Amino acid sequence: MKLYTFGTPFETIAVDPNSTEEVREEKVLPYLEISRDVVDETPSLVFTRKLAGRDVVYGLGETMRGINKRGGRYVSYNTDCPHHYQSMPSMYGAHNFIVIDGEEKFGVFFDTPSRVTFEIDYENSGELKVICETEDLRLYLIEESSALEISRAFLRLIGPSFLPPLWAFGLGQSRWGYGGDEDVERVFKGYRENELPLDYICLDIDYMDRYIDFTTNTEKLPDLGALSARMKEQGIRLVPIIDAGIKVEPGNKTYDEGLEGGYFSVKENGEPFHAAVWPGMTHFPDFFQPEAREWFGRQYEGLTSQGIEGFWNDMNEPSIFYSEFEGQKSQWLGDIVINKLFPDRQEKGEVSAYRDYKRFYHKINGQLVQHHRVHNLYGALMTVASAGGLEKQVDGRYLLFSRASYIGAHRYGGIWTGDNSSTYEMLRQNLLMMPSLSMCGFIYTGADTGGFGENCNRQLLLRWLALSAFTPLERNHSALHTREQECYAFGDTTAFRALIRLRYLLIPYLYSEFMKANLRRDMLLRPIAFDFPNDERALRTEDQVMVGESVMIAPVLRENSLTRRVYLPEDMQKVRYHLTESGEPVFDVELWKRGEHTVNVPLDEVVFFIKKDAAIIVSTDEKAMSTNEMDLSHVRLLGEGASYEQYLDDGRTKVMAEENIRTVTEAGATA
Ligand code: GLC
Repeated sequence: MKLYTFGTPFETIAVDPNSTEEVREEKVLPYLEISRDVVDETPSLVFTRKLAGRDVVYGLGETMRGINKRGGRYVSYNTDCPHHYQSMPSMYGAHNFIVIDGEEKFGVFFDTPSRVTFEIDYENSGELKVICETEDLRLYLIEESSALEISRAFLRLIGPSFLPPLWAFGLGQSRWGYGGDEDVERVFKGYRENELPLDYICLDIDYMDRYIDFTTNTEKLPDLGALSARMKEQGIRLVPIIDAGIKVEPGNKTYDEGLEGGYFSVKENGEPFHAAVWPGMTHFPDFFQPEAREWFGRQYEGLTSQGIEGFWNDMNEPSIFYSEFEGQKSQWLGDIVINKLFPDRQEKGEVSAYRDYKRFYHKINGQLVQHHRVHNLYGALMTVASAGGLEKQVDGRYLLFSRASYIGAHRYGGIWTGDNSSTYEMLRQNLLMMPSLSMCGFIYTGADTGGFGENCNRQLLLRWLALSAFTPLERNHSALHTREQECYAFGDTTAFRALIRLRYLLIPYLYSEFMKANLRRDMLLRPIAFDFPNDERALRTEDQVMVGESVMIAPVLRENSLTRRVYLPEDMQKVRYHLTESGEPVFDVELWKRGEHTVNVPLDEVVFFIKKDAAIIVSTDEKAMSTNEMDLSHVRLLGEGASYEQYLDDGRTKVMAEENIRTVTEAGATA
C-alpha cells in the first residue's frame, strides 16, 4: 500500500494504530492527475482520471444510489438529511474510500475531515473527479489483484469493527415516542404474547426530561434501574438515545461541568456557540478535546449504573435546527421543532446547518479550528467519547451505534443509516448500501426496518424483515406521527413469526461470519461481483448480495410481487424457508443450475442461496424468545457441504481469537 502526503494533514482516526499493513511513503502518484483549484474560497486539491466504459467504481460507504457509484455526485459532508432521495449528495457519514475496477484496478482513500466531492461519471462526463477542499491530506493507494483484495487490504489498514454483544444480533424494537414504563411494557407484551422473539427496546428522546441528555422523565420513567432489571430478566435490554447537543440549562450537572471545563465548541470570540436542537438552545461538546471526550464518556455513568448496556447516539453531524445567527425561523410544536425548517435550503439539497458550521470552532492543540474544516470527524469523535466511557462502565461488551460517522469510528461503534422512509425504494437502497458500508469497515450496521418516515404496511414490513434478517443490526424503528409499526401491529402475526424466527435461526451463522470477517479483516456483505469477478453478468447485478462466506440473498423488492428473477453466477443451493402450521421451521434445499431463474416468494417465506459444496449452520433452539435462551453451540448444518467453520464464544468477551473457531460436521463439532 502506498501513502501520499499533501501539506500537513489533520490527524483523523481512520487508520488502526495496531494495523500491521505495510504502508510505503511515495511521491509520484499513478492513475490520477492532480490539479489545484479554489472551491468555496478554499484552496483545494482535485484528482481526476478518465473512466473506461467498463470501469466499475465501488465504495463510498453510506451514500445513495447503486453499488456501482457511476453516474452520481457524492459529497462527503455529514448531514442530517431527512429525505433520502436518489440524488441526495450528502448523508450522515463520510466514507472516502473508492475502488476502481477495470483493466487497471486500484483503491484510493482520501483521509481528510474536510469536505470531499466525488463526481463519478457524473452527467456522463466519462471522468472521475475528486475535489478535496483542503491542501492537507493523506491519500492511500491500494493495488491488488481484485476489488475484493483491495477492500481487504483497506480493512487491514483501518482495523476491525467494535465487538457488539451477542444480544445486539437479536431483533430490536424502537419508535420515536417510546419514553417510559408503559411503552416498554406494551411492546414487550405485544412481542411475547404473539411469540415474536425480541432482544432489545430502544428509548427515544421522550425518555429524557425535556430532551436533556443524561436525564430521565420521572413521570414516564420513575425508576429506570428497576425497569431495566425487570426487562433483563425477560431477556430484553433497554437502549436509550443520546443526542450530541447539551441543553443550555444552568443547574444541570452535565451543562455546568461542560461550561466549567471549557468542553463546549465556541464562537470565534471564545464564547460557547448556541444552536437549537430538540431541547431548544444547546451547546455542542467539543469532542476534539481529549478532556471533553473523557468528560462526555463519564456522563453515561448515570445510565449504565442502572443496568443500561447499549446506546444509540444521534444528531451528531451535528444537526442544527437554527442558530443564534438565524433567529427563530422554525415552527415549534411544544418543545419539538418540526422538520419543515429551512425550505429554501432543503430545496437546494443543501446541508441544513451549512452556514453555521463556519461559525463555530474547536480547540485543537491550543488553536481554534473552524468546525467546517474538520466537520466530518465530529460525530465519529462523539462515538469515541461514548465508547471510552462505556468501556469502563459496562462489564463485557456494550452496544453502541451512531448516526454520524467517519471511517475509523467503526472500531468504537456501529452505525444505522438514518431517517429512511417506508417505501420499496428505501428497501432497495438498504440492500445496495450494505456492501459499500462493509468495504469501509462498518459491518455492524443496518437500516430502520420498515422505514422511519411515512406509513408502513404489512407487506412492506414483511419484505423488509426478509432483508434485515441478514444485516447484523436489525431494528424496527419509525417516526413520531407515523402509524404503529411493531411486528404485532398489522393483524395476524403468523408471517411475522416466520420471518423473525428465521433471523434467530440464522444468528449462529450471522454472528460467526461477523466474528470471522472481523478477525480476518474481511468483508461481511459483498457485491456478488466480488465473488465472481470474471462474470460480466454478476458485475451488473446489484440487487443480490453475498452475506458471509457462502450465502447469497435476493430479496423481493417490489410491491405486490410474489416472484423475482435471480441470477445464479454458478450452480447454487436454493433454500426455501417457511414455518409449518405447528410452527416448525423447514428449509427445503434444492440444487439449481447457473443462470437466470424465477423464484416464488410468498410473504411468509424467504428464499436464499448457499454456494455449491458449502454448508451454513442454523440454530436448533427453535423456540428461543431472545438470544438469552440460545446456546450458540446448538446448531446443525444446512446445505450439502460436509462442514462449517463456526466462530463460537460467549458473546461478551472482548478478545477475538482464531482458537474460537471450531469445525461443525453432521456428526457434531470439533475444536
Ligand atoms: C432523528 C433520528 C431518529 C429519531 C429522531 C428523534 O430524526 O434519526 O431516529 O427517532 O431523531 O429522536
